[in-house]
Amino acid sequence: MSVALMIIGANTARAADPNNGHDVVNRWCSNCHLVERGQKGSITEATPFATIAKRTGFDEAKLAFFLLDPHPKMPNLQLTRREAADIAAYISTLRSGRTR
Ligand code: HEC
Repeated sequence: MSVALMIIGANTARAADPNNGHDVVNRWCSNCHLVERGQKGSITEATPFATIAKRTGFDEAKLAFFLLDPHPKMPNLQLTRREAADIAAYISTLRSGRTR
C-alpha cells in the first residue's frame, strides 16, 4: 500500500468506533447528560443520550455533524471529526437492545 493510501485509510476511511465514543462521553458529557442506556436520574435538563438514540429519524451522520458545533450551555469543547463520529456511533448503539 502506498503512503498516500495508508493516510487515507487512517483518516477518512476509518470506521467510527463506538467504544472510543463511549470513553469520550464518559469523560466530557456525563456531567450533564445521562450517557448510558437505562441510566436513571436526571442531572440537568440535558437530554439523555438513550432518548436521542430512540427518536424517530435518528441519523448517526447528522448527529456527528451536529456535534462538531458545541451546543449552547455546553462548555466550549471542540470535538474532532473523529470523536464526533465515534460519539454518534456510540449513541446509535443505545437505540436498540444491542450491547456495544
Ligand atoms: C455543561 C453541560 C453539558 C455538557 C458537558 C454537554 N452537554 Fe449536551 N446538552 C446540554 C444541554 C443543557 C442540552 C439541551 C439543549 C440546550 O439547552 O442547549 C444539551 C443538548 C445536547 C444535544 C441535543 C439534544 C437534543 O435534544 O437533540 C446533544 C446531541 C448533546 N447535547 C450532546 C452532547 C455531547 C456528545 C456531549 C459531550 C461531548 C455533551 N452534549 C456535553 C448540556 C451539556
